[in-house]
Amino acid sequence: MKLLHIDSSVLGPHSVSRQVSAAIVARLREITPNLAVVYRDLTATPLSHLSGSHLAAAQGAATPDPALQRDLAAGHAVLDEFLNTDIVVLGAPMYNFTIPSQLKAWIDRIVVAGKTFRYGAQGPEALAGNKRVIVAISRGGFYGPGTPAAALEHLETYLRGVFGFIGIKPEFIAADGIRVGPEQREKALASALDAVTKLRAA
Ligand SMILES: Cc1cc2nc3c(=O)[nH]c(=O)nc-3n(C[C@H](O)[C@H](O)[C@H](O)COP(=O)(O)O)c2cc1C
Repeated sequence: MKLLHIDSSVLGPHSVSRQVSAAIVARLREITPNLAVVYRDLTATPLSHLSGSHLAAAQGAATPDPALQRDLAAGHAVLDEFLNTDIVVLGAPMYNFTIPSQLKAWIDRIVVAGKTFRYGAQGPEALAGNKRVIVAISRGGFYGPGTPAAALEHLETYLRGVFGFIGIKPEFIAADGIRVGPEQREKALASALDAVTKLRAA
């Protein structure tokens, strides 16, 4: 079985989502025989944003220059990595109410017509439903139903939507209220790490 581990926090060793995503991978290693893990750090090796010339070259409408060729190759590598894995463990912090732009750049490379979804007679059809995705999310505040900031929650809702679009129902482990204070940070991290110990094998 293959696992793709991805982090997207810019906070390095201070990151909560990185701690939780690492714990998830450690837990899955324990309970899954012969698990092969590939790691991708989207802040250490960022992907560039999509551009018009990228899309034109990807569709064969233009001859790519060397820089664009490298960009296309990086995108193909990321897409192949995703297509070839069974499990994705994703560290996803909330920045300005949604995912980091580094993670959006990755999503732009994996949500690709003809690869992970296609347009059929009845509208879009998902093509990536054979994967398990577990997301470690960390948020500075609280966004649960009924909270004043609930309408600003575009991290979990976005990831649920975009993975759903390609056929995947992600599992979430959340650490919330990280910026409320040190006590809440410890409590949220402990609760997330406890949830990790209860994860089951695929
Ligand atoms: C640039 C930046 C933007 C942030 N924006 C938000 C936000 O919109 N809402 C929120 O609740 N917390 C916000 N936070 C707090 C983070 O969500 C929180 O610190 C979380 O732990 C980040 O995950 P990480 O520790 O894995 O980086 C922000 C933090 C940073 C660095």
